[in-house]
Amino acid sequence: MQKQLAFGFAEKPPEVSAKKASNPKGYTGLYGFHKYWGKKPHEPLAFIIEQLTSDADTVLDPFVGSGITARESLLRNRRFIGFDINPIAVEITRLLVSPPDYESVYDTFKYLEKSVKEKIGQTYLMSDGCIASHYLWENDLLQQVWLRRGLGNAREERSPSAHDLELIDSLAGYRSKFLRRPNFFSNGRINAHKDLAISDILTGRAQHNLDLLLHGIAELPDDLAKPLRLCLTAASGQMTKMVFAVTGRGKTGGKASSKVEVGSWVIGYWRPKLHFEVNVWNCFERRVSKLLKAIRTYDPLTSLHISPSLAEFYRCDSKCCIECTPCQDSIAEVANQSVKLILTDPPHSDRVPYLELSELWNAILGLEPNFDDEIVISNAKEREKSPETYGDAMNAFFAQCRETMRDDGFLVLLYNARQEDRWTFVNKLIDDSASTGLEYIGQFPCNYSAGSVVQDNRKGGLKNDVALVFGNPDADLGEIGQLCDIPNWTTQIPFH
Ligand SMILES: C[S@@+](CC[C@H](N)C(=O)[O-])C[C@H]1O[C@@H](n2cnc3c(N)ncnc32)[C@H](O)[C@@H]1O
Repeated sequence: MQKQLAFGFAEKPPEVSAKKASNPKGYTGLYGFHKYWGKKPHEPLAFIIEQLTSDADTVLDPFVGSGITARESLLRNRRFIGFDINPIAVEITRLLVSPPDYESVYDTFKYLEKSVKEKIGQTYLMSDGCIASHYLWENDLLQQVWLRRGLGNAREERSPSAHDLELIDSLAGYRSKFLRRPNFFSNGRINAHKDLAISDILTGRAQHNLDLLLHGIAELPDDLAKPLRLCLTAASGQMTKMVFAVTGRGKTGGKASSKVEVGSWVIGYWRPKLHFEVNVWNCFERRVSKLLKAIRTYDPLTSLHISPSLAEFYRCDSKCCIECTPCQDSIAEVANQSVKLILTDPPHSDRVPYLELSELWNAILGLEPNFDDEIVISNAKEREKSPETYGDAMNAFFAQCRETMRDDGFLVLLYNARQEDRWTFVNKLIDDSASTGLEYIGQFPCNYSAGSVVQDNRKGGLKNDVALVFGNPDADLGEIGQLCDIPNWTTQIPFH
């Protein structure tokens, strides 16, 4: 039974101070469950919501990403509207604003374990009946097979046997029947090309085992299937040929260690020469445990009703609407003068080609993204996403946003770009205040947390985002609360 959120429930989170907002911690609990590109820390977002809105006010995030603004708003009894063009982002957001209850995830996982775990185990079976956990490959040559006999035992590293190689051969030609065929574009920055295929990324055995899990999940009722499918997307990077083998870390007696450790996968489609193939069941089980840990304690948003469309949101006076749509289309459906705060972190020019990077996740979900309407700059020439198309789309969108805002409303834009000319759209937004009715008020640095997931580390990338605050030209500046208490608050215009 889905529930509507009663405004005024008792367990509002403690208020966030300006100091806490500028020193965010890493991602824990539900925020750490699924990676997403360009994830923002929750502390500054919560602080902005607390300073600029009150109970039952509406917050809008048209580029909602992994849903942090959504969850922080709803936890504070605000109504929330979110859009994103990326299906995986919308699924993660829906989980964050309406987490499943612990028992249902636990029971469903146990059911899947019964029906699938053993079949997957058979594909990693060694000649002595043990199940391997990792295979170390150097290009197409198998180097080692690892196993661990129970928790707490040291890992065993074995040379590959004829039996291991036969097993691998038997599934080498397997091609997934359940993954949607992915669409890749030629983009050297993320090591993708248009002929990239699933078999370049996943071994036949990994595809076979993903299929076993996808098939098992597909047979479940939708509400039980969704969280487990997300565990699968969250675990999928670790199931690929993109998992780096880390060598030479640490020193013994002045010499670099020869020990090999399991690394992670890096933003993009990089397939390192020395890489691991990890047991698919183990990857999945670890993610389910992470989710279970995150939802173990009481969560006031559990099973909250999410309106699938704005029409339903208004008709049912609902508290939350999350739509998978291009925001430039959906914004027209938002009631005029209804939004107190637009708080958003739009795509930062060419930093992250979200849809291109999310293609494996979206293929697992079986959902087709709308590449045409993504607002981004991409190195993939065939997409024709240039700095000009990006700037025009952003300015057109934010000009349209103003109509949805109440006269006492605010727009807070988190932004960062590595080249000065990528600030053009922000400068235009500031210069056009007379026509858009959005007056620039000031900005403050919005730091990433130390444990930040996948940020831009290219030369020239700023160390932090800035939060740019806009309001009605007649706004009472007293209403920006303690925003100006954030260290380095300034009314200066960035890169102007
Ligand atoms: C910087 S990310 C948001 C990240 C988010 N702040 C977080 O913490 O996870 C920008 C988002 O804009 C989305 N996006 C790009 N073009 C869009 C469009 N036309 N309509 C809606 N969303 C879009 C991308 O899919 C991406 O999730």
